Amino acid sequence: MGSENNRACAVETAINDWSVEEAWAGTRQPIMNARSLPANAYADANYFDQEMHLVFGSSWVCVGFATDATDDRMLVREVAGQSLVITRTDDGEVHAFHNACRHRGTELAAADCDVKGTIRCPYHRWCYTLDGALVRTPMFDEAGVDDFDHADFGLQEVRAATWGCLLFVCLDPAVPAIGEYFGDLDHRLAGYVLDGWRCLDGLEIEIKANWKLISENFSEYYHLPFVHPDLVKVSRVEDHYRYQGHGMYLGMTTTPVSSNERNDWSSMPPAADLNESDEQSGRFITLFPNVLLSILPNHTFVMILEPIAPGLTRERCGWFLPPSTTEVSDADFELTRTFWIDVNNEDVEIVEKAQRGLAKGGFKPGRLSPRFEEPLHRFHNMLADKMTGISRIPDGDPSDADDILGSGVNPLPYLVSLTDQN
Ligand code: FES
Ligand SMILES: [Fe+2]
Repeated sequence: MGSENNRACAVETAINDWSVEEAWAGTRQPIMNARSLPANAYADANYFDQEMHLVFGSSWVCVGFATDATDDRMLVREVAGQSLVITRTDDGEVHAFHNACRHRGTELAAADCDVKGTIRCPYHRWCYTLDGALVRTPMFDEAGVDDFDHADFGLQEVRAATWGCLLFVCLDPAVPAIGEYFGDLDHRLAGYVLDGWRCLDGLEIEIKANWKLISENFSEYYHLPFVHPDLVKVSRVEDHYRYQGHGMYLGMTTTPVSSNERNDWSSMPPAADLNESDEQSGRFITLFPNVLLSILPNHTFVMILEPIAPGLTRERCGWFLPPSTTEVSDADFELTRTFWIDVNNEDVEIVEKAQRGLAKGGFKPGRLSPRFEEPLHRFHNMLADKMTGISRIPDGDPSDADDILGSGVNPLPYLVSLTDQN
């Protein structure tokens, strides 16, 4: 097995074409033998371009909170190098279109803007409804054009959807509908009724690190005692269990969340009607590729990652409260808010160090800890699937059927290669 790993490592360091399976030999090993990704995956501009196209161009990508889209506001978002406008029609449906007029391609809007039922091109004033139909072409019908039907020139639509309290788009029509894409997660999180949660506050920061480092850091609990001495008091390492069913997500549950040493997380009232497991757990879930969810009984902390460059990511954070919490004191909320900002600052500092090491350290891939970093291995394999053009929604973790209420042992990793799951 040792020589096999050495071979995998040699292939990884030489590879330039990430769309071939050989480039992912170290990732495709079972977790006990798997390697971390090579430095190029975090620091190389060519890799980044391929990743934007193959991963962000072929996934349900989060572009904001569901409440960002209203019927009087048009959003402008960039995904995989494509500019999109996003609207919400009177019936509550969200729509996304390529940000280019159907006359001669002019950008419809450069930034989020107010709309009053109509999208108007700034050039020759062609007008579209909020669901993309072309309804007005000034002076065009009298201009000698032959055989022109407005119905043939509506805006080019891409899929948009809300999931929970989040807003998503998907550029690739071959990707399954969002419910199928996230698999059993809807069912798993049904007790929280996340689509009713409201955003109480948010902020946006730029992090000098590759987007995957932020996601990977969120997906392992190896670093908790060393990077988060306070967090580990309420989210103890020994209370972590993997929490991964069928679907494009990965993550862990902390069960139970402890509150005897700090009460930052329990200062606000819990959501109504949670079941026994939900009311004593913290769910830490990565929605592939770009959402990090921390769902606690009384609030959810959301991070949305927007890759800007290989070593630069914009992170949008938001604090959400359940519908049953109709009011909360500023002091109680501030405890939770400050706690997350402190934890996040600790994470930002460490992932920026990781980025610098990867970008300038002559790094060769290392090894993963099966117990503490298995969700990260699942993340790497989803990434490898997308990069090599494999359309696959992974099965659930076999240990998912085990007791997750904290009375058992931490589940052991499964012992088969993900490539055997075809
Ligand atoms: S390019 Fe939009 S109306 Fe001419
Ligand atoms: Fe962390």
